[in-house]
Amino acid sequence: MIGRLNHVAIAVPDLDAAAAQYRDTLGAKVGAPQDEPDHGVTVVFIELPNTKIELLYPLGEASPIERFLEKNPAGGIHHICYEVKDIQAAKKQLETQGARVLGSGEPKIGAHGKPVLFLHPKDFNGTLVELEQV
Ligand code: CO
Repeated sequence: MIGRLNHVAIAVPDLDAAAAQYRDTLGAKVGAPQDEPDHGVTVVFIELPNTKIELLYPLGEASPIERFLEKNPAGGIHHICYEVKDIQAAKKQLETQGARVLGSGEPKIGAHGKPVLFLHPKDFNGTLVELEQV
């Protein structure tokens, strides 16, 4: 069901510093910050030859990243995102097998303008998994 690794998301305490580090120290292609109010984050995408890195920084009140950074003040890997062809079919199959979809359970439009959903980390080896329909 899952396809390519679309991105790895890293929560960071200082978005400008993290973006500069990827650009200047690691020599990566770093995009401009984008606000994603529906997800409570500001994101910077980093294009790698085979995948992307998504730097996440809290946006607005009750951002899910705020609490993560309280627990991990230096930042840390927040989630990984796999591509799927049909997000509704994926959701149905996962729920049939007992996996929990977070939030309302319905896909939201993600940072790339495509439907995404998140799966409970306790069902996936302690890893928050995002699925994105491509
Ligand atoms: Co993501």
